[in-house]
Amino acid sequence: MAHHDDIHRFNRWARTYDRHWMQRFIFDRVHRTVLDLAAQEVVQPSAILDIGCGTGRLLRSAELQFAGAELVGVDAAAEMVRQAQASTPTGSPIRFQEATAEDLPFPAAHFDLVFSTLTFHHWYSQSQGIAEVARVLAPGGRWLLADFIATGPIKYVRRILRLHQFPERHELEIMLARAGLTVMTERRVPGLGGQVKVLAVAVKD
Ligand SMILES: C[S@@+](CC[C@H](N)C(=O)[O-])C[C@H]1O[C@@H](n2cnc3c(N)ncnc32)[C@H](O)[C@@H]1O
Repeated sequence: MAHHDDIHRFNRWARTYDRHWMQRFIFDRVHRTVLDLAAQEVVQPSAILDIGCGTGRLLRSAELQFAGAELVGVDAAAEMVRQAQASTPTGSPIRFQEATAEDLPFPAAHFDLVFSTLTFHHWYSQSQGIAEVARVLAPGGRWLLADFIATGPIKYVRRILRLHQFPERHELEIMLARAGLTVMTERRVPGLGGQVKVLAVAVKD
């Protein structure tokens, strides 16, 4: 099954993941855009969840920006969780645990910031993952979803190449609406040709 292949790949990749060229070229830019938008959307978050957190780099940056917040990272790949724990200094308040987006082990309405950076296209059930985010997101909170989101002519490339795991903006909005969520703001990640976007998603009033 494709999902399990993905997770095996991330388990094997975990130890060297932070040294990959994509970190500086793609991930750092995505993380910076997510943290900027987060600060603008939620002034003083009390609890932050990173779904598909990988080696935990985004949460270690978030810790500097949002001092005092509860910080939790989950990932489906056990080796990523181990690497995240090993890379986080002793005494840091960040907690990491193995869990999937589709089955989050947290109470309802607990987090006022939820991040998912370049992980959504790997989820084995995007609709179930969205339902779980909707459940754990507090009223007034934001889910910052960063991924390759197809708009304009790229939509047709996506259809021709059958890249269905990469969400199309319109289809994504339909899935979000089914879970009672809505897009409040959108930002393009600079330097990536406009292909990677960050959406700030909220529970609909
Ligand atoms: C490309 S990495 C991105 C990691 C991190 N968000 C970052 O920005 O560096 C995608 C991560 O999503 C995780 N992942 C894939 N499917 C998942 C799922 N269904 N639930 C939770 N994590 C998942 C993978 O194990 C991997 O660590």
